[in-house]
Amino acid sequence: MTEVNGARRSVCIGLLGGLAGMALGGAAKARPTVDDQGKVFRLDGGKVTYAFGLNPQGQLQTLYWGSALAAADKLPGAAAFRENSSNETQSVVTPFEFPGFGGGLTVEPALKVTFPDGVRDLALRYVDHQAGEDRIVVRLKDVSRAVHVTLTYAMDEATGILSRSATVENRTNSWIQVDQLAAASINLPYQDDYQLQYLTGKWSGEFTLETRAITPGSTVIESRKGVTSHQANPWIAISRAGTDEEAGPVWFGALAWSGSWRIHVDMDAAGNVRATAGYNPFDFSYRLKAGESLASPAFHSGYSDEGFGGASRVFHRYQRTRILPGAPTPRVRPVLYNSWEATYFAVDEKTQGEIAEKAAGLGVERFVMDDGWFGARNDDRAGLGDWVVNRKKFPNGLAPLIRRVNDLGMEFGLWVEPEMVNPDSDLYRAHPDWIIHFTGRPRSEARNQLVLNLARKDVYEYLLKMLDTLLKDHNIAFLKWDHNRAWSEPGWPGVAPGEQQRLYVAYVDNLYKLLGELRRRHPKVEIESCASGGGRVDLGIMRLTDQVWTSDNTDPFDRLMIQDGFTRAYTPAVMMAWVTDAPNFLNKRVTSLEYRFLSAMQGGLGIGANLNHWKPEDFQKAKQLVADYKTIRLTVQQGNLYRLVSPQKNSPRSATLSVSPDANQAVLFAFLHASSRMERQPRIQLRGLDPKKVYTLRTISGTVAPETPKQASGAYWMGNGIGLMLWGDFAAGAVAFEVQ
Ligand code: GLA
Repeated sequence: MTEVNGARRSVCIGLLGGLAGMALGGAAKARPTVDDQGKVFRLDGGKVTYAFGLNPQGQLQTLYWGSALAAADKLPGAAAFRENSSNETQSVVTPFEFPGFGGGLTVEPALKVTFPDGVRDLALRYVDHQAGEDRIVVRLKDVSRAVHVTLTYAMDEATGILSRSATVENRTNSWIQVDQLAAASINLPYQDDYQLQYLTGKWSGEFTLETRAITPGSTVIESRKGVTSHQANPWIAISRAGTDEEAGPVWFGALAWSGSWRIHVDMDAAGNVRATAGYNPFDFSYRLKAGESLASPAFHSGYSDEGFGGASRVFHRYQRTRILPGAPTPRVRPVLYNSWEATYFAVDEKTQGEIAEKAAGLGVERFVMDDGWFGARNDDRAGLGDWVVNRKKFPNGLAPLIRRVNDLGMEFGLWVEPEMVNPDSDLYRAHPDWIIHFTGRPRSEARNQLVLNLARKDVYEYLLKMLDTLLKDHNIAFLKWDHNRAWSEPGWPGVAPGEQQRLYVAYVDNLYKLLGELRRRHPKVEIESCASGGGRVDLGIMRLTDQVWTSDNTDPFDRLMIQDGFTRAYTPAVMMAWVTDAPNFLNKRVTSLEYRFLSAMQGGLGIGANLNHWKPEDFQKAKQLVADYKTIRLTVQQGNLYRLVSPQKNSPRSATLSVSPDANQAVLFAFLHASSRMERQPRIQLRGLDPKKVYTLRTISGTVAPETPKQASGAYWMGNGIGLMLWGDFAAGAVAFEVQ
């Protein structure tokens, strides 16, 4: 199948054959329905209905996307749109589901191709469809040339998240060149007050929320970097002017792709709003020989009328139940220790062993040794690519340290950055041609490193063997998989010039294949996606990795903002944060240990401080907080998240609440950033509790207001709220509410 829980490439129409053309007037909810004439296609799931139709010209048009309609509601078929004027023709004003560049199209196409004779006109028309358990697959074809397109619409019954993707197939006798391919075009119902939200960033400043009104013209968010990027993340949310955190309509979606991508949002001359998401057409070209095909990544999109909070909660649920490894019940994140900020490249058996002893005493479950354990890797100038244990630092290999870590009751994890080399490495000296480059041109370095061309078969095989051997030879439970630079000079010498730009797709395909194969061979090994922090966080990589490194910025205050942005799109089930030293390495801010813990405890908890510098009271406090965290982590990681008070817009305070799916536990984290002019702290009203259940309060950290009852109903906590005594700068409190 195209996407949902499978490989991206093949569209398995055969499986659906028996169900083709079902007319399902009164069918069970969530089963895709197609009307008797085969002209109105409808998918229902969660609280959402999506419908599209076939117009008299044989083109697919969006009919409806929004809150669930009654099963008996009949949508009118797709009428032919009349041109506004000779300047806004039919092809401009029609909300096409998947427009080809051709037939007069001047808005954003989903597919653009070039034929060998110079023709660049593609007019796609309906051929047939098949409707299955959870999906509708529609085939289109150009009016005269054998270019076939298969569109897949898969609706998740529980959440109403619609996964869309497209495959273009060349059945002509010659090559065709795909210049642009999207997963989908999505069309919003006509309104004049749409707002667009998206996430931008930079190293140490990922997941910054941007909001702008959608007005005539386009907004392009993209990565041209070969990797998802810090600079923008492939997620958007479109809302109406009045939408807020808990009420109002939100249409949202995220592209499952870890290479260069683009989401193009535009309002055309007639005021229609559409978004087109797919491969970044910048520098893109994918030549298909006769008989070959190219699949797009999937665009997972949803709708909620419960505001931005409702949108992210339903998307989190979808990610937990349909995307993450282990879905529908992903494994809970263990508490980890990571050596990076503590010892940087100066890792060795003795120091790591000593720190491991201390970490184990805190209740840490996984000890991760970061960069510096291999080759001549004493700084970032050399050794990357030489994945042999450095015998000066580890005279007897990694085995003694791993044994010690295991004997302490912890799993062992290791940092790798397989896709990169330092020019000063044995690997590069042996294979200078293995990197992405243009023949005879300078090779730009970043952090003194170059990018291996993983699209190459030999590179793929080398990395598979190297990683497979590493995992076979050692008791490694976890890999932190890093990717510390963007691509440059994206050439692929070794294939014909006309094939070189396949790199953008072939690299990422091989990355997914490599991760998938390693997981198959080592099913117990977990992987973290890291790219200088949060540079590779997307639904493509999240299928194959158990957690993501959110940011190299470990300052607990900055992190509140980063986490607020992150959770707009992605689930806290994968969002890692570490408690590191104060002053923070990045901005020198000093915060209390409790504050650092409470900030990091809102996702998967890690500790990255140099424990050799800690005082006995730090250990005592940290041990208690780790123990407390273990009592709430399932709710925090996999519960329903309410961003009660957002840190956005320079708010002086923020608060999040996580509620377990059975509503028997809720965990509140509250932060005061700075006290000012004796300002009073508003009471915090909870959400998502069962009003009838009685919840007992358990203070994890901080002090609740003196009048707070020990026990009260969900109705009380939601109606009357709770006061926390927060004073000074960077103060925090955490409270659990539990049904006994
Ligand atoms: C990247 C990661 C860090 C650390 C270093 C090691 O910057 O984001 O967490 O692993 O690489 O070199």
